[in-house]
Amino acid sequence: MDEKKVMLSGIQPSGDLHLGNYLGAIKHWGARADEFDCYYFMADMHTITVRQNPADLRRRTLEQLAQYIACGLDPEKNTLFIQSHVHQHAELGWVLNCYTMFGELSRMTQFKDKSAKHADNINGGLFTYPSLMAADILLYQPDFVPVGNDQKQHVEITRDIAQRFNNIYGDVFKIPEPYIPKTGARIMGLSNPESKMSKSSPEGCVFLMEKPEDIQRKFKRAITDSDTEHCVRYDPENKPGVANLMSIYAAVTGKTFEEIEREFDGCGYGTFKPAVGDAVVETLRPIREEATRILADKAYLESVYKQGAEKASYVANKTLRKVYKKIGFVAR
Ligand code: TYM
Repeated sequence: MDEKKVMLSGIQPSGDLHLGNYLGAIKHWGARADEFDCYYFMADMHTITVRQNPADLRRRTLEQLAQYIACGLDPEKNTLFIQSHVHQHAELGWVLNCYTMFGELSRMTQFKDKSAKHADNINGGLFTYPSLMAADILLYQPDFVPVGNDQKQHVEITRDIAQRFNNIYGDVFKIPEPYIPKTGARIMGLSNPESKMSKSSPEGCVFLMEKPEDIQRKFKRAITDSDTEHCVRYDPENKPGVANLMSIYAAVTGKTFEEIEREFDGCGYGTFKPAVGDAVVETLRPIREEATRILADKAYLESVYKQGAEKASYVANKTLRKVYKKIGFVAR
């Protein structure tokens, strides 16, 4: 019997992957492939809670797969798939909707943020998104869900839903733990260090496939502070912009904040900002080159997502069958 622990996570292909997605999530996925049974997917069903251009969605989903592989997720060791190819997600999502409370959905930060941003399209899917995410997770009975800080609340509601279901029907679902990285869990926007880096503010967001000169320009323009001594010191309260750049530098170089303070002692922001830009450019360069190469090979990508969906469906179906039996659906 396979005793390996299970890890699972996903990203919405609603925009191009950015440094926050990389440092908060993907970077921590590939490293554990030998130790864990790993499932990573493109959460395309989640993206339609906000209107998408169909051609862009299709293109981005494949680009995201190429970037997953370029970031080190070996398809031989990780199950990589497209969420909508595994119909069990939608099926369990519906069931879990009936075990998720209106009140708890109303408290979700992502729902509040997105309904404020898309006031003309506050649809039912946006509201019940966490039940589908709970289904994404619980189908695979994972031990850990590696995500950035902003998704912790969704993993917590998943635990509550699973617990509620188990209390009624016995031990159907494993209760997963969120796995939040120590560095990079919350990368802030370069043009506004008060809000998280996100594709919705592209001027402060560094994309994985972006050209080095554009990345450098964004870092040179990064907001720091009006501190006249221009001192590189980790003080998130008073110097959030500098703290964010230090977190990025720490995440890509592996250096501690003390080491970074020493390295830039007496240098000022004019030296520090381009140095962070350089470190990021060098981290992303091999990823960009490899992703471009993989993306050109459509047959390979197709073979990866087809095999991934086959393996994922097999595992997901076992859980779904158990759930259907427990709730009283007649077996097919
Ligand atoms: P999404 O697509 O918004 O983000 C994907 C991953 O990137 C992390 N992330 C960040 N980390 C650090 N700093 C940032 N600025 C930053 N921005 C994004 C997120 O925390 C996340 O880990 N609901 C999910 C997708 C999803 C999912 C799942 C995740 C659907 N089903 C099942 C895990 C398990 C989402 O919208 O993430």
